Amino acid sequence: MSIAVAIDGPVGAGKSSIAKECAKRLGFIYVDTGALYRCIGLFCDRNGVNIDDTSRVEAALSHITLDVKIKNGTQHVYLNGYDVSEEIRLPEISMAASKVSAIPAVREYLLQFQRDMAASQNVIMDGRDIGTVVLPNAEVKIYLTADAEVRAKRRYDELIAKGNNVTFESVLADLNQRDHNDMTREIAPLKQADDAVLADTTKLDFDSSCDLLIGIIKEKAGL
Ligand code: DC
Repeated sequence: MSIAVAIDGPVGAGKSSIAKECAKRLGFIYVDTGALYRCIGLFCDRNGVNIDDTSRVEAALSHITLDVKIKNGTQHVYLNGYDVSEEIRLPEISMAASKVSAIPAVREYLLQFQRDMAASQNVIMDGRDIGTVVLPNAEVKIYLTADAEVRAKRRYDELIAKGNNVTFESVLADLNQRDHNDMTREIAPLKQADDAVLADTTKLDFDSSCDLLIGIIKEKAGL
């Protein structure tokens, strides 16, 4: 039987970097589900599909084929055959992803895809609704968070390091807006699952955060 670790939390809580490191240490496959929503946001952005028009986005889904491959331990996502792993990280695509993720047909489209990935292998899967909707029977559920200002500072440093021209204020405003969208949407909103362990990394650096999560995973999964 495979083991599933579900990690949910708001923007910039460090889910992907921490989950990736924990997966490496445990020999699990790391699955970043936000990348899938980003692919749909990217497709709409590049093809002039109005993301505020639900029926247009729904219609676009039949033109989208997604694929996920793990290369050297890193997840690559393919949109209609093209590796878009870098392009989906652009700031404008973050907001597009958040908006399309509120559309029920989009969530439905991605649900089975995500479940299939967890069915046959040990995974650490991160997102917003993994412990609540996608993998409600996951052996381990963690709600990873940190204060908004701390999360925004981390995201700002990341974007600047990648050469993006952004201000801290704009990153904080964007983060708060996305969290608001993700927490208040009607379908599968971001929230802590009843049986999830809360992990707050406000005062922790990267290594301590990884140690905290590894401890929780080992204890809960009986490793
Ligand atoms: O984790 P991320 O920032 O890459 O995710 C981008 C957006 O996708 C996020 O704002 C909300 C959405 N998302 C979601 O609704 N459910 C998930 N499981 C993962 C992401």
